[in-house]
Amino acid sequence: MINQSIRISLLFVSATILCNCSGSKQVNKAAEKMTLRGTFKDDFLIGTALNTRQIEQKDPKAAALIPQQFDAATPENIMKAEEIHPQWGTYNFDLADKLVAYAAANNIRVNAHTLIWHSQLPAYVRRLQSADSVRQFFTEHINTLASHYDGKVYSWDVVNEALNEDGTLRKSIFLQKLGDNYIVEAFRLAQQAAPNTQLYYNDYNIEQPRKRAGAVAVVQKIQEAGVRIDGIGIQGHWRAGHVPFDEIEKSIEAFGALGIKVMFTELDLSVLPNPLNGNTADVSQTAAYNAQYNPFVAGLPDSIQQQLASDYEQLFKLFLKHKDKIGRVTFWGVNDGQSWLNDWPVRGRTNYPLLFDRQFAPKLAYYKVIESKTKS
Ligand code: G3I
Repeated sequence: MINQSIRISLLFVSATILCNCSGSKQVNKAAEKMTLRGTFKDDFLIGTALNTRQIEQKDPKAAALIPQQFDAATPENIMKAEEIHPQWGTYNFDLADKLVAYAAANNIRVNAHTLIWHSQLPAYVRRLQSADSVRQFFTEHINTLASHYDGKVYSWDVVNEALNEDGTLRKSIFLQKLGDNYIVEAFRLAQQAAPNTQLYYNDYNIEQPRKRAGAVAVVQKIQEAGVRIDGIGIQGHWRAGHVPFDEIEKSIEAFGALGIKVMFTELDLSVLPNPLNGNTADVSQTAAYNAQYNPFVAGLPDSIQQQLASDYEQLFKLFLKHKDKIGRVTFWGVNDGQSWLNDWPVRGRTNYPLLFDRQFAPKLAYYKVIESKTKS
């Protein structure tokens, strides 16, 4: 492994030098190939989730890395209803406007996240009782945000996580008060308010057969209503050593056959034990802390580092195989220290799910992702 880490640092140092030197375009071309966005620029967008500090460029290491490595960005939290529409008729546009400006300055496409989600709703919405009041929030929220950001963001996750694990519709406030056509109505409103924005459905575990079938039904219902849907996001919150490659490929093919783009929108591979039954990303499910669930506080064993790298390499080989169907691959965070998986489903753990470590240095997985293309 020592040789490996020397190799990694030499590769990265050489790439950095290439990046920083004034030299010929050819020299920079080589350096560009060492970046994620440069390596896959002819295949699909490579994105990351951005937190508030990163959007405000308060984190210098992240600020250097983000525009170099990524050509797409999803706000991790600032465009969710509880943050951007905290009171009835009150909208906090500032941070999202900063994100739009930052992205435009760095040739990064913004995927706005998310218009309609059962989670992270402000208290005033959670307290609504009548169908009319929920419909009024639903309509004003979509119209205001989708029109304000039309032409400024590239895409919206119009509806997020509307399905149960068996493919039926989740009993959210929107389903209960507006009925089972609410998803079509959300896309219809978004289409009218944002004619220049791509419109997506986004969910986790839709690589699993029953939930995949539910997602196909959602897309077909929108299409049969004559309403625009441009793509579907498979979130990709998986576990290293347990990545369902075969089911992922079946979902790429099933969703691609609907004539829409397939995105991987929140990719991370947890390396920690999962105290919850089954693979879920339902943020409402949690578990109490126990040291047995947090085995790598002192660092990640080489064997796990290798597993993580191998899984990411195999995933990107699959993505490249289906690059005609895939529009974007977004990692759910820039580096391990940012990941939600340090606090979910158990708070206060040390996870290692992404391509850059806590010092923003590339991990073996980063080089294996690059090699999935350069060695293909
Ligand atoms: O900003 C407040 C801060 O002021 C306060 O001191 C702190 C107290 O705990 O909370 C902070 O807000 C937290 C927010 O992240 C920003 O850090 C919320 O409590 C916390 O619930 C929120 O978690 C986010 C989670 O969605 C729920 O919105 C995660 O960062 C985010 O990674 C996660 O992302 C979701 C996707 O949006 C949808 N798909 C699943 C994915 C993982 O759950």
